[in-house]
Amino acid sequence: MILVTGGAGYIGSHTCVELIKAGYEVVVFDNFSNSSEESIKRVEKITSATINLCHGDIRKKSDLRKVFKNYSIDAVIHFAGLKAVGESIQKPLDYYDNNVNGTIALCQVMQEFGCKKIIFSSSATVYGIPHTTPIKEDFPLSATNPYGKTKLFIEEILHDLFASDNSYKIAILRYFNPIGAHESGLIGEDPRGIPNNLMPFISQTAIGKREFLSVFGDDYDTHDGTGVRDYIHVVDLSLGHVKALKKLDDIKEILVVNLGTGCGYSVLDMVKAFEKASGKKVPYKFAPRRSGDVAKCFADASFAKKIIDWSAAKGIDEMCEDAWRWQSKNPNGYN
Ligand code: NAD
Ligand code: UFG
Repeated sequence: MILVTGGAGYIGSHTCVELIKAGYEVVVFDNFSNSSEESIKRVEKITSATINLCHGDIRKKSDLRKVFKNYSIDAVIHFAGLKAVGESIQKPLDYYDNNVNGTIALCQVMQEFGCKKIIFSSSATVYGIPHTTPIKEDFPLSATNPYGKTKLFIEEILHDLFASDNSYKIAILRYFNPIGAHESGLIGEDPRGIPNNLMPFISQTAIGKREFLSVFGDDYDTHDGTGVRDYIHVVDLSLGHVKALKKLDDIKEILVVNLGTGCGYSVLDMVKAFEKASGKKVPYKFAPRRSGDVAKCFADASFAKKIIDWSAAKGIDEMCEDAWRWQSKNPNGYN
């Protein structure tokens, strides 16, 4: 049985689908602070499986112990966490509490129950301002905001845990920019309020919920002056977790892997691709650079191929088509 913390969220729900398709049984543990139970119902619809669901908070050991008592957990895929960069600057203590304290509580309860396998959702944000691209796993690490620091601290904690006991099996997956949705259009990204990230903002503009997209910066050192990122289809990303899980038993060291495509696309490339996929216009205006943004961020994805035999299969057209199917079938998300 695989425990999926944050399994009702965007990446967690897609990963549940792929885990079930690969023959795993899952139990989802979520406090629904940024998701709804509807996503789990949709996962059940896609997979025709019943999902074991536990309401709880990773900071509460009593909640976690209930799950470990009720199920025989072989490994944990740990998605639960807060993820909004801007909010983390406003509410740093909430981020350190939820992400860092939550992960410590989770690891302590895992230890109590003798569960030593964990896959952790890290982020390309731990590379800070990369001195060059593509980004390899051994690049220097830094963080410019509390959210990024929580990811760095948790990575350090997991390294220390492994150093204390080499029988742990730990994978740290550093995601680049997950976008898109399951091809069924039943599950997808459902941000609360005004989206911070590019793709949900573009989809909501295309459907008429937002008047125009503000393109943050037009004078970066990139092919068209707008920021370049490594967008990765969420289903590819989910499959990366399945591959990492299969590899866990064989690893002798902590596994640290970039999950990206290795390709960089600019904001304007994404606008064009989305217009093509949706047949809708995405009006935009240039705006000042957003503080903390880097010009270019894309992965060297070769280590993932070598070590877990994973590479992304879906290109930006498919990412945009799937994002649009989700958006147009669910204009108000899961509500
Ligand atoms: P999400 O907000 O959709 O999912 C996170 C889930 O965790 C939600 O269902 C939320 O309710 C739950 N959760 C939060 N705090 C919890 C707690 N204390 N106890 C129990 N459940 C809790 O986010 P996502 O995009 O699916 O991201 C999943 C993970 O991947 C996060 O750790 C995030 O930091 C990381 N990540 C995301 C991105 C991205 O761009 N989406 C990029 C890099 C890394
Ligand atoms: N952008 C706009 N307008 C918007 C939103 C974004 O022009 O309204 C631009 C940004 O300036 C950037 C690109 O679109 O050039 C992508 O921005 P996102 O906010 O979608 O993504 P980021 O690369 O800034 O960050 C995301 C997550 C981080 C994570 C990082 C790497 O928000 O948490 O990817 O995984 F760390």
